[in-house]
Amino acid sequence: MVKQAIIPLAGLGTRMLPLSKALPKELWPIGSRSILEKILDECFDAGITQVILVISKKKEIIKKYFSKNKSLENTIKRKSEISQTLANLNKMSKKIKFVYQDKPKGLGDAVLCAEKLIKSKYFLLILPDDIIDGYNCSKELILLHKKKKSSVLALRQIKKKEIQRYGIVGFENTKHLKINKMIEKPTIKSAPSKFAIIGRYLLSRSIFNLLKNQKRGKLGEIQITDAMNSMLKRENFYGCKFKGKYLDCGTIKGYIKSFIEINK
Ligand code: G1P
Repeated sequence: MVKQAIIPLAGLGTRMLPLSKALPKELWPIGSRSILEKILDECFDAGITQVILVISKKKEIIKKYFSKNKSLENTIKRKSEISQTLANLNKMSKKIKFVYQDKPKGLGDAVLCAEKLIKSKYFLLILPDDIIDGYNCSKELILLHKKKKSSVLALRQIKKKEIQRYGIVGFENTKHLKINKMIEKPTIKSAPSKFAIIGRYLLSRSIFNLLKNQKRGKLGEIQITDAMNSMLKRENFYGCKFKGKYLDCGTIKGYIKSFIEINK
């Protein structure tokens, strides 16, 4: 049973500067609530019972966002609609645990920071830059995992010019999306396909041992894509062409587009 999810939030948000200096991008609104709450809705709706948020000392405001504020709650007591929103947040926070990533050493390192809290053989990894709207992608991954009994990744066919922004996979079997190669942000020439990893991963916990020995890769960071590529030698990996609409919240332009799309 997949019951736990990791959401890495310790990144510097450089693509969103200067706005992300004051407020982490994950707390930016995407309607009446934050991007992070939308992602958490997806997790809990998919049956996840505990989410591990990987933050840094500089992003403690995320912890504050989820902490109970009694005096505020007392002040707005009579405004029932707003109290309900805060009550929902309190409910969510009961299923959240925080861990710290000391230095921004990359996505692979962030995942490793949550190792001690992961109890079962498989867990979900969700990147908050990627919103998948209209259809629960985490649920889709869990269903495919039950069928294949392996790790699975959300995939999307992208345009050639976008290849260098993503982790790209190659296939042993294109029909069944059995993956045999993964490269982080390859050149167009070296890309094994036009299928990109989008921020939903269902991973076997054997990834942790590989991450411990993983050398820095693209951008001088410990890349989860490199560790997954090593894992391919021992374990199966399948892709999932998810049904929902992909909204890229990882750039200012993408964020604005996503906001408009969700509030149509
Ligand atoms: C990360 C992953 C990359 C993946 C992408 C999806 O990249 O490293 O493999 O394709 O998320 O959004 P980042 O957005 O952190 O550069």
